[in-house]
Amino acid sequence: MKRPITTTINERTRDIVVAPNRTLLEVLRDELGLRGAVEGCGVGVCGSCTVLVDDRPVSSCLMLATNAEGRTITTIEGVSRDGELSPVQRAFLEQQAFQCGFCTPGMIMAVEGLIRENPNPDEAEIRDYLSGNLCRCGTYSAVIAAVQSVVVQARAETENSRPAAH
Ligand code: FES
Ligand code: FES
Repeated sequence: MKRPITTTINERTRDIVVAPNRTLLEVLRDELGLRGAVEGCGVGVCGSCTVLVDDRPVSSCLMLATNAEGRTITTIEGVSRDGELSPVQRAFLEQQAFQCGFCTPGMIMAVEGLIRENPNPDEAEIRDYLSGNLCRCGTYSAVIAAVQSVVVQARAETENSRPAAH
């Protein structure tokens, strides 16, 4: 039997009615029209369906939509601001961190989760955090470069915003 849930998706409160066997990925794509997260493996291995749930990356193909009750979901459609790409999205473009693009929404969401959890990761931490996101085109080194450029840029912005010492 379908069940009503209230969840926040991309900063908007949504009251939706979901079947107990529907995954979050299915509801996002088929019922809410948010088609950025894609299904690769469907069994929690590839990361192409990654979204943030309460700021942590989750494989939405494994999460039942009913478990989104009271949670905050961010999808790739929700990371840009006022039509501006997020720093992570910009870095992926600048570093050409994709080829076919199939893995890219999930990869970007995993990076968004990483930066929120650890704004200053080293290369080993980046590789470890992204180990659940597979790229069949093998763009891993460009992805690492993209994350590192976001980290360097954020650090520079923090230093520039500090009041000058007298
Ligand atoms: S489609 Fe969800 S992890 Fe592969
Ligand atoms: S860019 Fe093609 S799968 Fe990653």
